Amino acid sequence: MCGIVAYVGSRRAYPILIKGLQRLEYRGYDSAGISIIDENKIITYKKDGKVDDLISHIDDRATNGSIGIGHTRWATHGKPNQINSHPHSSSSGKLSLIHNGIIENYSSLKTALQEKGYVFKSDTDSEVIIYLIEDVYNSLAKKGENSDDSLFKAIIIALNEVIGAYAIVVIQEENNNAIYAARKGSPLVIGIGNEEYFVASDASPIIEFTNKVIYLEDGEVAKLHKKKDVVIKNIQNKLKSPYIQELEQTLESIEKGGYDHFMLKEIFEQPKSIIDTLRGRINPKTNDIILGGLIDHESKILKADRIIIVACGTSWHSGLIGEYLIEDLSRINVEVEYASEFRYKNPILTKKDIVIAISQSGETADTLAALELAKEKGALTLGICNVVGSSITRTTSGGTYTHAGPEIGVASTKAFTTQVTVLMLLALRLSQLKSTVERENYNFLIKELNLVPQKIEKLLLQNDMIKEIAQEFYNATNFLYLGRGVNFPVALEGALKLKEISYIHAEGYPAAEMKHGPIALIDDEMPIVVIATLKDNYDKVVSNIQEVKARGGKLIAIVTEGDIEVKSIADYCIEIPKCFREISPLLTIIPLQLLSYHIALLRKCNVDQPRNLAKSVTVE
Ligand code: AGP
Repeated sequence: MCGIVAYVGSRRAYPILIKGLQRLEYRGYDSAGISIIDENKIITYKKDGKVDDLISHIDDRATNGSIGIGHTRWATHGKPNQINSHPHSSSSGKLSLIHNGIIENYSSLKTALQEKGYVFKSDTDSEVIIYLIEDVYNSLAKKGENSDDSLFKAIIIALNEVIGAYAIVVIQEENNNAIYAARKGSPLVIGIGNEEYFVASDASPIIEFTNKVIYLEDGEVAKLHKKKDVVIKNIQNKLKSPYIQELEQTLESIEKGGYDHFMLKEIFEQPKSIIDTLRGRINPKTNDIILGGLIDHESKILKADRIIIVACGTSWHSGLIGEYLIEDLSRINVEVEYASEFRYKNPILTKKDIVIAISQSGETADTLAALELAKEKGALTLGICNVVGSSITRTTSGGTYTHAGPEIGVASTKAFTTQVTVLMLLALRLSQLKSTVERENYNFLIKELNLVPQKIEKLLLQNDMIKEIAQEFYNATNFLYLGRGVNFPVALEGALKLKEISYIHAEGYPAAEMKHGPIALIDDEMPIVVIATLKDNYDKVVSNIQEVKARGGKLIAIVTEGDIEVKSIADYCIEIPKCFREISPLLTIIPLQLLSYHIALLRKCNVDQPRNLAKSVTVE
């Protein structure tokens, strides 16, 4: 999932492009490049490695010009190297393109162009697009079509031949006034300034300059002429009226704010992000829950045969917790599906089914496709998302935002706890609509939920102690995470966090499942993290812990403050404040996030941009 940025106006483009790429680097970071038009000539610089490598590669070479495009890559087609990095120039070199997405029919398009005599420089699918655009542009010119809009027209015609996902920006030599952008499946936002335009994969490179934006819809192409209003057409060549929105994000929300890493900042932001997610959704007088984006669909949810949650990665883990909470509190049947499996398993879906997509980015291709399928089969589709204006929020019939703010660290943390908070609100709301929870218990749970932010604040005070535990285990080669009930998915999430950022192999398991195989892995080299909070099959977990200790395993236990029994067995204990079982995942995950963070740091891993990963997976 690449990051794209572009600018046309009167400012010097270079610093805007470079800062934009640095802001987007979390999306993909195996190579980067820029093209700028300087004195009617396109100059392109590309380099494998990080944006910093590109900056030193450019050094003090010419970077004047007030129109340009930039790209940071996550390779899909063609190795991460200089040739395959973007921007890609057309055969004549008079056009340059950046692309995020995957062109599924690129090889047939490439063969057809090669038969016309075109010679390609890279192994990428992206290069084919700009060659195709130029081929169409040339044939229009041969037919005498040579106006200001010829390139706009050529792009529209060419994109009608392209199958796949794309967000592209094109610049043209000798055209110092306009840039062209188009999207289908991959995110693209346009920032409107005073006689200038910004284009990017998300708003982070734009916030600094303007809060007026347009989220381009699927199948739309835009011509951005610095002296004129934006012109948007769809690929049927029909004019579209632009829908201008105001950005809510702030610049400071995307800076590190004094923390060493975005991940640590985002872990410490969780008390605030949960308060922001609860804000305005619980009536302080009546304790009634209001989920504005779901109100119109509540009656259908109550009559539903089942709720199917589709998601990937960390969002799938919060979906599993949602299953426990919704089934337990509102007695509605819930199934949780990996979106990538769901979309190809020919699922049985009816009009009486509700499909909820959970996604931080709102752009995950597998989750989006699972939604499209559910829609086709007549199910009601809803979303739980963190990014306003993202594709999933525009595909679903309704939903709820997790107000976690921008999450830049690739390893998801605050998005997870705010997703679980929304799922808790939904389960409680449905429980009242279905009278499946006594009002007294309901009020207790609401009170508990409102206490979570301060309990997390208290938990975060143990950061240094958790760092010391990390020092004991950062050389481990494997880890096992165990939990029961609503804390089994937390064990899965803890293991995923460690895998993602420290590259240590780790598995999460239901504690009782251990006897059926994984217990064979245990020896004095194997660290085991067990979630042993009270009220969650505590006695059963204690016997699982004794089975581990009997085989010499090194035990880190997450316990409830004041615990005695587990403390007497475990090698290390991290206490969480007392809380209800249903609420506990919002607390038990915090020490696991910090443990993985410190272990990764001690292993000198790039915590915010782990190898081979990217923040939002916009391709299959
Ligand atoms: C989590 O830390 C990972 N970044 C990844 O598993 C992520 O949760 C997954 O790609 C889903 O992303 P989404 O929530 O943006 O759809």
